[in-house]
Amino acid sequence: MMATAANRFRPAMPVRPDTAHQTKPSGWVLRVVVSAHVVAIVGQPVFAGVYLSGDYDGLRWHAAGADVVTSIGYLQVIVAIVIWVRLRQIWPLLATAAVVAAETVQYFAGLNGALWLHLPLGVMTIVGLVVLFIAVWRRPLRRRPRPPRERAQTVQEPEQREAGHA
Ligand code: HEM
Repeated sequence: MMATAANRFRPAMPVRPDTAHQTKPSGWVLRVVVSAHVVAIVGQPVFAGVYLSGDYDGLRWHAAGADVVTSIGYLQVIVAIVIWVRLRQIWPLLATAAVVAAETVQYFAGLNGALWLHLPLGVMTIVGLVVLFIAVWRRPLRRRPRPPRERAQTVQEPEQREAGHA
């Protein structure tokens, strides 16, 4: 009686998580790079504010920050390509490509003093990167399983080969 009740209330999740469902090393590298990217980009409006308050050093920090932000962005593209190849997950690459394209436009808008574009695009880029930050930390970054049809073909292959030889 007691055992039946205990079975009925058994947790749906196994107590020891399956390692196949955990974040892979390449996923951890992406998380670290995206996190550093967020920290670097958040400094940008701060330095811009320092500059706009009258301290010209702020513009120097902002210019150096722009190089750091864009460099981390290009590094993130490489990591996202690795994720695509190893884990068969393309969304980090698509999201990173969008952020990096925005940052590149942002860089030239800043150099040209096109503030009508630079300020709103800066805010949007930061929001986009924070959303990506949440996405990479929210769930495990693991290898995407093959679609069932592809798997079925792989299983059928040996039989088909045998049938051909018969
Ligand atoms: C909300 C975020 C941002 C704000 C509010 C902001 C604001 C500004 C401001 C006020 C300037 C000075 C423009 C002038 O004096 O004509 C500037 C310049 C610049 N910004 Fe930003 N910015 C932001 C984000 C970024 C980001 C993310 C990057 C890099 C991808 C960037 C790259 C630059 C560059 C390269 C300059 C020119 C610096 C120079 O003249 O040496 N900014 N920004």
